[in-house]
Amino acid sequence: MRIPLRRANTEAYGVRVRLPTSVSERNMIQLHNIEKYYEHGAQKTFILRRVTFDVREGEFLSIMGPSGSGKTTLLHILGMLDSAWSGEFYFMDQPVHKMSRKDRVELHKKYIGFVFQSYHLLDDLTVYENLEVPLSYKDVKKAERESIVGDTLDRFQIVGKKDLYPNQLSGGQQQLVGVARAIVMNPRLILADEPTGNLHSDQGREIMELFKRLNAQGTTIIQVTHSEQNAAYGHRIIKLSDGWVEEG
Ligand SMILES: Nc1ncnc2c1ncn2[C@@H]1O[C@H](COP(=O)(O)OP(=O)(O)OP(=O)(O)O)[C@@H](O)[C@H]1O
Ligand SMILES: [Mg+2]
Repeated sequence: MRIPLRRANTEAYGVRVRLPTSVSERNMIQLHNIEKYYEHGAQKTFILRRVTFDVREGEFLSIMGPSGSGKTTLLHILGMLDSAWSGEFYFMDQPVHKMSRKDRVELHKKYIGFVFQSYHLLDDLTVYENLEVPLSYKDVKKAERESIVGDTLDRFQIVGKKDLYPNQLSGGQQQLVGVARAIVMNPRLILADEPTGNLHSDQGREIMELFKRLNAQGTTIIQVTHSEQNAAYGHRIIKLSDGWVEEG
């Protein structure tokens, strides 16, 4: 089933925002009653409750909330990295909730750059090789891959680290490589889980400025952050509290 395009429903859950005119009328993401729980014996612990909101193509959204409120869990669902949940999730009008795991992986590879809270670099690949992985999904030719990875290394000032393995990098450097890997293939959607949590404030600001530029060029961005300063780079904030989207 394909649902018809409709105006983004940003007011139905109490968030009143005036988005800039550069943001499209089209929804990239529609979530309806997303729920997730873990089972411990006979007991269910809910992590996400009836999460319902839309994200427009071209939006820059921040998700905030206390530790344990479900932010990472939600981002992993949005990134199609988790399939154990219920509810409806449309991504560019396609029903993710009805898709096979394989189709979700394909969608992720095609459209999404993901910055993991815990970096998730591939340990037995060098920095250079880690940056090459997303390009290999897109059948980019070797010469072009070299040029894109070279530019990205340059942009993040990590050229000198290109032949090192993740365990030879500091936490902040791994985080930078994680951000570089997420943007290297110029994805339509960037999902970033506290992307500057381990960085010096100047580096953190540079990453936020980079996101702002990418967003101005049309990339949709959803970031999880504990920082009001970082959240201010986005157009609106969704607050999670014990797995619920806070009203208001
Ligand atoms: N495998 C699991 N089994 C049981 N509970 C889990 C599991 N994984 C996560 N949780 C619980 O889900 C809740 C939400 O976790 P999540 O990582 O989404 O929080 P968060 O909002 O990202 O927190 P933080 O700001 O600390 O990163 C937590 O209470 C956590 O204990
Ligand atoms: Mg988290």
